[in-house]
Amino acid sequence: MESKIILITGATNGIGKAAAKELAKQGHTVIVHGRNKDKTLRVLEEIKAETGNANIDILLGDLFLLSDVKKMADDVKKKYQKLDVLINNAGGTMGKVREATDEGFEKTIVLNLLSPFLLTQSLLPLLSNAPSARIINVSSEMHKFGGKPFFHDFQLEKNYDSVRAYGLSKLYLIWISRHLSAELKPKNITVNTVHPGVSNTNFGLDADRGFFTNLVGKLLMRFSLTAEQGAASLIYLASSDDVEHVTGLYYGPKKKPAEPSDRYYSIENENRVWGYCSQIVAPYMDT
Ligand SMILES: NC(=O)c1ccc[n+]([C@@H]2O[C@H](COP(=O)([O-])OP(=O)(O)OC[C@H]3O[C@@H](n4cnc5c(N)ncnc54)[C@H](OP(=O)(O)O)[C@@H]3O)[C@@H](O)[C@H]2O)c1
Repeated sequence: MESKIILITGATNGIGKAAAKELAKQGHTVIVHGRNKDKTLRVLEEIKAETGNANIDILLGDLFLLSDVKKMADDVKKKYQKLDVLINNAGGTMGKVREATDEGFEKTIVLNLLSPFLLTQSLLPLLSNAPSARIINVSSEMHKFGGKPFFHDFQLEKNYDSVRAYGLSKLYLIWISRHLSAELKPKNITVNTVHPGVSNTNFGLDADRGFFTNLVGKLLMRFSLTAEQGAASLIYLASSDDVEHVTGLYYGPKKKPAEPSDRYYSIENENRVWGYCSQIVAPYMDT
């Protein structure tokens, strides 16, 4: 198998870390993204020691901040001439009270939607330099439970609820992935989304979503997949020759394509979300 350069966001824990280890085992150069320097360095050493692969690198940045995402993209561009695979895996759900970042964005929407959008757009020149490249966006079946989109209130200033914010951010991620997939077809860059399956990770553990939701989350985790099982479709889409030209699909766990909800989908809605993301990230893009 040809060795690839693969960047995985949120690779310091859970599904991202499991994917990073397996892809390192396969001999690829893996760039482990994390927000905490000490933790990311520990994971780097752990992956090197467990896989015997010395070609592991780190990339630091807080995905709550678009200014950090811009810096991350600049750091990658300084060091690498091409990127074969970008896995936008980092994500999370927030608490029952809406929180905004210092840049003024609701935390769930910026982490799960705007940051991967900006990182992808900023790294397109590097992805285009690879003979064929792959973008994998980690979504969730919870995209079916966010309810009706609020196009007049993308930041959920008036309509915040943690399940809604998480569900809508992952729904919009599927729509922008579809949009990008169509745009990039002539360039030999594929774009797919993944629902990893409920997996036993740190997901949601540090968010206070209220007694009932916290309890359901903890119970679900007990009967869930392991992080390694949750990473299976990410690893497959990143490295298998079988999916070299597969694009625009939504994969479930176990490497199987699945059907996302089309309840609120229309090309107009897809374009609205695309337009909104493009407008928000514009000040953080190189001109
Ligand atoms: N677990 C599930 O059941 C499940 C189901 C469906 C979808 N997903 C999706 O799968 C992806 C991975 O989640 P997981 O289950 O592996 O969760 P996890 O164990 O909580 O790992 C999340 C990763 O994202 C990083 N991260 C979170 N906020 C960040 C920020 N502001 N800046 C930079 N990095 C940040 C975390 O960094 P730290 O290590 O510093 O915390 C960690 O590396 C997410 O997109 C999630 O929405 C998970």
